[in-house]
Amino acid sequence: MKEIQLTSTITFCQLEELSAEERALIEKAKQATENSYAPYSHFNVGAAVRLNDGTEFIGCNQENAAFPATVCGERTALFAAQAQCPTTPISQLAIAARNENGFTAEPVSPCGVCRQVILETEERFSQPVKIYLYGTNGVYIIDSIHQLMPLSFVDANMR
Ligand code: THU
Repeated sequence: MKEIQLTSTITFCQLEELSAEERALIEKAKQATENSYAPYSHFNVGAAVRLNDGTEFIGCNQENAAFPATVCGERTALFAAQAQCPTTPISQLAIAARNENGFTAEPVSPCGVCRQVILETEERFSQPVKIYLYGTNGVYIIDSIHQLMPLSFVDANMR
């Protein structure tokens, strides 16, 4: 028997350390929180994705009185992109979230279901999705969803 260490590497930085393009995508995610429909949680999540050809899509959480019908901001953005540009790979995803006090100080990380959908996106296009998680204290940069999902489940596991 042996213990196996599963390690992750992510980067923490300040907005000023990012390129203008990266800051612009984060700004889009912040703006997307304005379109959020969150009358139950009052937690507004915005997401923005950029495709390989530079096209961008936004998404935001869409809540429902039947709570499980709610869709997170991340999936709203990813599915909007994939519905409209099904053959163009997605290279980047930025996420920001606001509560009644404003944008969260700590970056908000995607829920388990969204992580699985981001993983499927990487598999679908055979390309990592670089993820930017915005918080007023700073930004987490994650090079691939694999950093947040050790022992993930993909199609290959069924073969
Ligand atoms: N939510 C997201 O949109 N993304 C996440 O990563 C976490 C949670 C939404 C779902 C729901 O509308 C609200 O935040 C509270 O859970």
